[in-house]
Amino acid sequence: MKTAVFSTFGIVAAAAAQVTYQNSSQTILRTDSGAYGPEIEELHYYYQQWPIGIAVSSTGRIFASYTRGNYTFTLGEAVNKTAEVPYPSSDLNLPVSQLNTSWNGISFGSGNSTGLISVQAVYITPESGSRPETLWVVDTGRPTITGEDGAPSMPYAQPGGPKIIGVSLANNTAYATYTFPSTVHYPDSYMNDIRFDLRPNITNSGKGIAYIVDSSDEGRPGFIILDLGTGESWRRLTQHPSVLRVDRDVPSYQGRPFYQRTIGIPIQTLREGLDGIQISPDGSRIYYSALTTNYLYSIPTANLLTPPTDPLAELAAANNVTNHGQRGGNANGFEGDSNGLIYQLMPEHNAIYYYDPADLQTKPFVRDPRIIWPDGASIAEDGYLYMNINQLPYQPLWNNGSDLRTWPGAVLRCKLPGSGTKIMSLG
Ligand SMILES: *[C@@H]1O[C@H](CO)[C@@H](O)[C@H](O)[C@H]1NC(C)=O
Ligand SMILES: *[C@@H]1O[C@H](CO)[C@@H](O)[C@H](O)[C@H]1NC(C)=O
Ligand SMILES: *[C@@H]1O[C@H](CO)[C@@H](O)[C@H](O)[C@H]1NC(C)=O
Ligand SMILES: *[C@@H]1O[C@H](CO)[C@@H](O)[C@H](O)[C@H]1NC(C)=O
Ligand SMILES: *[C@@H]1O[C@H](CO)[C@@H](O)[C@H](O)[C@H]1NC(C)=O
Ligand SMILES: *[C@@H]1O[C@H](CO)[C@@H](O)[C@H](O)[C@H]1NC(C)=O
Ligand SMILES: *[C@@H]1O[C@H](CO)[C@@H](O)[C@H](O)[C@H]1NC(C)=O
Ligand SMILES: *[C@@H]1O[C@H](CO)[C@@H](O)[C@H](O)[C@H]1NC(C)=O
Ligand SMILES: *[C@@H]1O[C@H](CO)[C@@H](O)[C@H](O)[C@H]1NC(C)=O
Repeated sequence: MKTAVFSTFGIVAAAAAQVTYQNSSQTILRTDSGAYGPEIEELHYYYQQWPIGIAVSSTGRIFASYTRGNYTFTLGEAVNKTAEVPYPSSDLNLPVSQLNTSWNGISFGSGNSTGLISVQAVYITPESGSRPETLWVVDTGRPTITGEDGAPSMPYAQPGGPKIIGVSLANNTAYATYTFPSTVHYPDSYMNDIRFDLRPNITNSGKGIAYIVDSSDEGRPGFIILDLGTGESWRRLTQHPSVLRVDRDVPSYQGRPFYQRTIGIPIQTLREGLDGIQISPDGSRIYYSALTTNYLYSIPTANLLTPPTDPLAELAAANNVTNHGQRGGNANGFEGDSNGLIYQLMPEHNAIYYYDPADLQTKPFVRDPRIIWPDGASIAEDGYLYMNINQLPYQPLWNNGSDLRTWPGAVLRCKLPGSGTKIMSLG
């Protein structure tokens, strides 16, 4: 397209604005600024490793997780505006040489139940009478490994490797570890996020419950429920329609239709199932959705808590799923505040929306051209929502081996509406 020059009645305006292709700065037409909502602060920059999960403590400490790959550590703490260091120690972050094994020619993730293999998510629960403020670490036990042909793949999990670890933020020591039997965490499961209800009266054992999403690309997503007192775990809603990916869903990122190009695999679309999870402030309901759907769902926690010994547990759960309708796009991770708003990261819109259970509608919260793939989010006790920006659609894994990301990644934060803050009501 050629440069257009404005002229009025045949007289070329000397210093007239030029309206050129892809430059609308001088147009008289209405334009989309790409932004709305509260002020965004750039709080931290990532220059070493691209992050996935984030959790911010009561004193403002920032923790990040990084799935592996060849990264030297998988759990870190920001020590200044531009650097993070391994957390709680380098020793606990297994070296790259120990992330996977193979048996009879089949690759498996490490079965090490103490060392950190590949951490997907982190979540902080506040200090309570019976517990210190705790950083909960979700280790998938499934790193991405690269074969001799350069093709990446994710080996099956080995029992022990996939685990939940509780780290006390008071003494920076891991004080609890939970692993799963292979009937609950399948070899092709992938634990993507976690929420807690630590109230003593929720379980007989009195130590609270963890609700975990299994997003398994391989096709058996569902919920994993973990009793933190007994260590027992069970599944619910495995392969229920509400937890499955929408097959061949083509999202748009930065205005471009997206297909996944992975070396060694035909061109495909994203395959993750159940991904976003958030618990209501009264602990009665879990909101959730798959990455590739436009629909938001929820289920009463009572239906997740029912033990698998109840023969009607699955049927009752399946019958009690609520479809809250469409929300205007795909959503990645969720968060939630003390007002009961369900925040959803919307990578197609460079935005965060929230669902308001009070009037049954999804609403805009914040949008900005800097929000290029919001990944983890964390609402802290200071009333801010913190989010990781990691440019995920530009990673080599999805772009035929080319790394199209540009440093740095970032932690952005913005103030919540209506004096919303971290949910403190669940113990
Ligand atoms: C867009 O046009 C304006 C006015 O001519 C000019 O100042 C600006 O540098 C241009 N921006 C780009 C990105 O070309
Ligand atoms: C990891 O692999 C990438 C791509 O091959 C390479 O650019 C990078 O330097 C490696 N990082 C480490 C820490 O080995
Ligand atoms: C930030 O911390 C890193 C790691 O400890 C250190 O190497 C770097 O010099 C620090 N940067 C600043 C600006 O303090
Ligand atoms: C996995 O780990 C084993 C043992 O450390 C190693 O020999 C192998 O090359 C690794 N990669 C694959 C793809 O199995
Ligand atoms: C598991 O990881 C821990 C912590 O890094 C390490 O001390 C231990 O030797 C590992 N265990 C095995 C069996 O490799
Ligand atoms: C750290 O705190 C946890 C939880 O309160 C406690 O169980 C553990 O003994 C403490 N460890 C150390 C080394 O102080
Ligand atoms: C647990 O106790 C809280 C008050 O701490 C109460 O609001 C809630 O209804 C109780 N939950 C159950 C399942 O009994
Ligand atoms: C569905 O959930 C409600 C609570 O919201 C509960 O009262 C009801 O018993 C549940 N129904 C089934 C079939 O589990
Ligand atoms: C990936 O890159 C290779 C090498 O440049 C090229 O031959 C192939 O066509 C590319 N595949 C896709 C799906 O873009």
